[in-house]
Amino acid sequence: KRPAGAPDKNLARPVSKVGVVGAGLMASQLALLFARRLEVPVVLTDIDQERIDKGVGYVHGEIDKLLAKGRVSNDKANRLKALVSGSLDKAAAFGDADFVIEAVFEEMGVKQQVFAEVEAVVGPDTILATNTSSLSVSEMASKLQHPERVVGFHFFNPVAVLPLLEIVRGEKTDDASLATAFGVAKKLKKTAVLVKDAPAFVVNRILTRFMGEIQNVIDEGTPVEVAEKAIEPLGLPMSPLVLLELVGPAIGLHVSETLHGAFPDRFKVSENLAAVVKAGKRGFYVYDSGKPELDP
Ligand code: 3HC
Repeated sequence: KRPAGAPDKNLARPVSKVGVVGAGLMASQLALLFARRLEVPVVLTDIDQERIDKGVGYVHGEIDKLLAKGRVSNDKANRLKALVSGSLDKAAAFGDADFVIEAVFEEMGVKQQVFAEVEAVVGPDTILATNTSSLSVSEMASKLQHPERVVGFHFFNPVAVLPLLEIVRGEKTDDASLATAFGVAKKLKKTAVLVKDAPAFVVNRILTRFMGEIQNVIDEGTPVEVAEKAIEPLGLPMSPLVLLELVGPAIGLHVSETLHGAFPDRFKVSENLAAVVKAGKRGFYVYDSGKPELDP
């Protein structure tokens, strides 16, 4: 059954090579997923070779874990490793790619610049996808020659495990690009939902309301361990503050800043969270003993 709002699947174009802009943790998780599910070459780019090597190294390490768990055969592990590579040269990396996804720093200017650089080296039909958590897809596309090929493709951490994918149609996105995005989502075995190009889309808006209230309680003086204990009966899959570490406090802060900017009466930015990010911490816990302990 076609997902609500998805165009006719016959409009979808084939994807036989994927580019990933960025080689950080999110980008590397995406590279692994695309290689594993689409079984096509995937090339990562970043601003220096060290980051690229780290990203490709992460992917190879995750493939080794899949092999050790018996989730992939030896042959498949070797094939997957050969499919994922990195390059500093965007033209060489993306010139023949059909689908390029960016997972770089969450700033509109940076993302627009990245898309402009990618557009300069790909064909007119190549999909430009963004994994942004909260920024406007239409604005990101607005300075391009072909804004109709831009789609939001928003994954959730950990990418390999969580089934949801928010697909965002920008103002100018055309049906063929959207159909291609839904086709890719199906091959990735993700549950795709079409969401509006609104600040933080759907999931992060709800999650930020929820996480933000926990932060407010802490800002107002409730100790972190009391707040954590009090919400245990809700039966969440993981503690919200551990989730914040998984997502990255800087991303969490960025999403709440975007939402505060869009709906100042509904969302505020937590002082505590801003302090954690300013101090360059991973979150509210330290792991010196190997187990999570509250950061004093
Ligand atoms: N990376 C890769 N795989 C992971 C992982 C990680 N970080 N964490 C867990 N896994 C895998 C495990 O290896 C295991 O795989 P296996 O079945 O092949 O062995 C499987 O997930 C289940 O793990 P566990 O049994 O250890 O643990 P749980 O059953 O407790 O599940 C969890 C772990 C899936 C992370 C679960 O706690 C969960 O769903 N947490 C909430 C996550 C969430 O809400 N994410 C959304 C964040 S919002 C976001 O990302 C959007 C962004 O824009 C901010």
